[in-house]
Amino acid sequence: MDSLVSATKLSITQLAAQVNECTLCQLHKTRTNVVFGEGNLNAALMLIGEGPGEVEDQQGRPFVGPAGQKLDEILASVGIMREEVYITNVVKCRPPGNRAPLPEEMERCRPYLEAQIALINPQIILSLGNVPTRMLLETNDGITMLRGQFKRWRGGIEIFPIFHPSYLLRYQSREKGSPKYLTWIDIQKVKERLDRNRTT
Ligand code: URA
Repeated sequence: MDSLVSATKLSITQLAAQVNECTLCQLHKTRTNVVFGEGNLNAALMLIGEGPGEVEDQQGRPFVGPAGQKLDEILASVGIMREEVYITNVVKCRPPGNRAPLPEEMERCRPYLEAQIALINPQIILSLGNVPTRMLLETNDGITMLRGQFKRWRGGIEIFPIFHPSYLLRYQSREKGSPKYLTWIDIQKVKERLDRNRTT
């Protein structure tokens, strides 16, 4: 499969069709639907989460459950609409009980994500939480340390890690220094960078 994804430049529709049939890891056995990803194929901003939750698994769409509502709120706070961005996850099938995806599951799914990134070719990747951030930046550092800073990915696209929206659902405080407070500041930085890119 690696060679199939990389040797031929598949269109996003062909890639989605391939992922829909995927049985490369055990997650295919328990999924209801593959959650490939969706959004603007010309997006300047691409969002990468961890993996589908229960509602996403049922609907076959990313971030449509409670975490998705929180994500919409974060984006809307700076006037970014869901229709403008492209959203996907590290793994395309739900890990049972919402556990974190296993290293092997992430590796099996990785060529799909890499192909999506290549096809969308965004200016900025908003990396949601520890799982995508550690994988993309090849680090064991945690999100608390990495969030809120732009990092170059392979010399091109910028990666900007933020807290995962599910984490914000667990910590309701908006006090200065709280995860919510920091996220609301972080997303402003992303908006500023997008606006600046548009005018330069
Ligand atoms: N959490 C994620 O990381 N991704 C989703 O699609 C939904 C919840």
